[in-house]
Amino acid sequence: MTSIETDAATTTSNVTFDFNGQTVIVTGAARGIGLELGRFFCRSGATVYLVDFDADALDTATAEVGCRGAVADVSDTRSVRAVIDRAIAETDRIDVLVNNAGILRDRMLWKLTDEDYEQVMAVHAGGTFRFTRACVPHFRERGYGRVVNVTSYTGLHGNPGQANYAMAKAGVIGFTKTAAKELARFGVTVNAISPNAETRMIASIPDDKRAELTAQIPLGRFADPREMAAAVAFLASADAGYITGVVVPVDGGISI
Ligand SMILES: NC(=O)c1ccc[n+]([C@@H]2O[C@H](COP(=O)([O-])OP(=O)(O)OC[C@H]3O[C@@H](n4cnc5c(N)ncnc54)[C@H](O)[C@@H]3O)[C@@H](O)[C@H]2O)c1
Repeated sequence: MTSIETDAATTTSNVTFDFNGQTVIVTGAARGIGLELGRFFCRSGATVYLVDFDADALDTATAEVGCRGAVADVSDTRSVRAVIDRAIAETDRIDVLVNNAGILRDRMLWKLTDEDYEQVMAVHAGGTFRFTRACVPHFRERGYGRVVNVTSYTGLHGNPGQANYAMAKAGVIGFTKTAAKELARFGVTVNAISPNAETRMIASIPDDKRAELTAQIPLGRFADPREMAAAVAFLASADAGYITGVVVPVDGGISI
């Protein structure tokens, strides 16, 4: 383990925020960034629902974290509503929604199929839209809510081979800003992070492309997924109530 990795682990394990009594929903949480966020919110006292469409991985994740799991496809309105209804029925509240679920179908533009485009849009843009929309009546009624969306460097700056993903993640940014404006009057903030973390998604990038990407990161490495927690926790906290509609890069400086 390098000293950088050691420092990263130490820093993230010391992050403390109090989410006692709150209900937190994290999508795409069977692994990667979502799973680490689930772990973090659980440790911070929240009742956490990990949402994923991979039932087996979700079982393993919830057993290990010791929280609740909901098998759902974020691109399906009915499943999304069922998760929200269940969380409200069981805990009487939803405080925080993290729209994190994601897939990649990378190819150059001229090779992308309709399916590659539609699936990526349906999960990233569609999932964020569906989950947030489903929470709004509850947020309005309580006069409180925190939404943290997960966008990407690609949505901000573009990246060859990811036209579908760039379009979806740029859509998430436009959605974040619009929802922030619409929901502000109800005490709801809507923000986003733009991460850069060592997960299965990054492992799927070919070695040469990955080395090229790492060379562009001023901090010289991809993050440990645990390093996403501090920014998400801050945006999800009651104390960040005067911050809305922003995209916080948690990306080692790649977007500078
Ligand atoms: N890892 C990075 O560096 C990076 C960079 C930029 C953006 N992101 C974004 O961060 C988020 C998390 O990425 P990750 O690296 O942890 O990926 P990951 O592949 O490790 O995890 C994504 C999870 O989402 C789930 N998922 C996919 N489609 C779903 C659906 N339709 N319904 C429910 N669950 C679904 C998967 O089963 C998986 O468990 C994604 O939105 C991704 O686009 C990641």
